[in-house]
Amino acid sequence: MKKVYVAMSADIIHPGHLNIIDIARKLGRVIVGLLTDKAIASYKRLPYLQYGQRETIIKNIKGVEEVVPQETRDYTENLRRIKPDYVVHGDDWQVGVQKDVREKVIETLKEWGGELVETSYTPGFSSGAMNLGLLEIATTPEIRRKRLKRLINAKPIVRILEAHNGISGLIAEHTKVDENQGEEEFDGIWISSLTDSTAKGKPDIELVDLTSRLNTVNDILDVTTKPLIIDGDTGGKPEHFSFIVRAYERLGVSAIIIEDKIGLKKNSLFGTEVAQTQDSIENFSSKITIGKKARITDDFMIVARIESLILEAGMDDAVIRAKAYIEAGADGIMIHSKNGSPDEILEFARAFSRFTEKVPLFVVPTTFNTITENELAAAGISVVIYANHLLRSAYKAMKGTAEKILMYHRGLEAEDMCIPIREILELIPGGK
Ligand code: SPV
Ligand code: MG
Repeated sequence: MKKVYVAMSADIIHPGHLNIIDIARKLGRVIVGLLTDKAIASYKRLPYLQYGQRETIIKNIKGVEEVVPQETRDYTENLRRIKPDYVVHGDDWQVGVQKDVREKVIETLKEWGGELVETSYTPGFSSGAMNLGLLEIATTPEIRRKRLKRLINAKPIVRILEAHNGISGLIAEHTKVDENQGEEEFDGIWISSLTDSTAKGKPDIELVDLTSRLNTVNDILDVTTKPLIIDGDTGGKPEHFSFIVRAYERLGVSAIIIEDKIGLKKNSLFGTEVAQTQDSIENFSSKITIGKKARITDDFMIVARIESLILEAGMDDAVIRAKAYIEAGADGIMIHSKNGSPDEILEFARAFSRFTEKVPLFVVPTTFNTITENELAAAGISVVIYANHLLRSAYKAMKGTAEKILMYHRGLEAEDMCIPIREILELIPGGK
């Protein structure tokens, strides 16, 4: 019996998949190489369904004899191990991001005389088009909440962008650029205390209350499907923190980050210019434990943010606190810095990588903005948050626009700072 290898993501099964499997089974014994989350996330959006769910579906399709994980976009490792007589794939990969993978498949098959069989593409059923369909059917709190942990496990670094209302949420959800290795987009959304407060014309001092913050979160949940990380400031009074955790968790938020400050919180980027007090390790650890006890699912992450570098308490203090917070149950650590250079963050990351108990490390490179995502990933950082960029860019343009109208006593000169009306109408679904 000939061996036939078919690789697929199989997120939403459609007639195109069934057609390929049908052709493959006529050639021999069908082995499906099911792409893992990691393999898929290396070139496109994380699949809707988890690996185990996709595996169950594929195993139950008539004609599929075996399902094996394919850990990379590249087929070579599985092909060399299985040595199939045929690989079957749709002919749509002759162009586009999969072109190089296809060429490598042909080369590898030559090693034992295997053959690539290409079937004609089934119109209307590309996974890209299906993903757009998915956006329309939206998501559930359950699925969205799980997504952050899945992304952290699947990607070298998870990229998060700030949003402070529905429209900035839409930008974080939909903005894409084409890169050689596939489309680039943000993985999730940060609900910043700074930008949520600033958008309301209020200072970032925990003045905007929970009800108001939940409203912002709801506005963003309404129009997006990506995972959300909430900036929980200090987490408030320990007695309040358990309620806060449950309020966000049940909405489908994936993580809350709380910072180890006490008393009147000011924005970290002020550093020591303003009076700010760091909480004791004992108090803050007990707040983390309260949060962990309050959450209902393992998917929701309580991330502890260390302000030692911001408040000039030193690297040793930051490292000691990280160990203590992990011991108290923190699901992740955020280390913050307002230095122009990434050196202190990298020094912390080196110490962090030697910890025996490991959790994901989060950073917010607002001031040390020369460091690239690849460099952060190489330092062992799991999540990068662009914490205020949409608000800052929008308000820069707004200020300029207001000045231009005042200067010229008409709207014409301000036009090039404005998004065309058609584009803004098209960004919002359902407006036509
Ligand atoms: C926020 O975005 O509100 C943050 C990050 O907490 S920072 O402004 O850098 O403190
Ligand atoms: Mg904040």
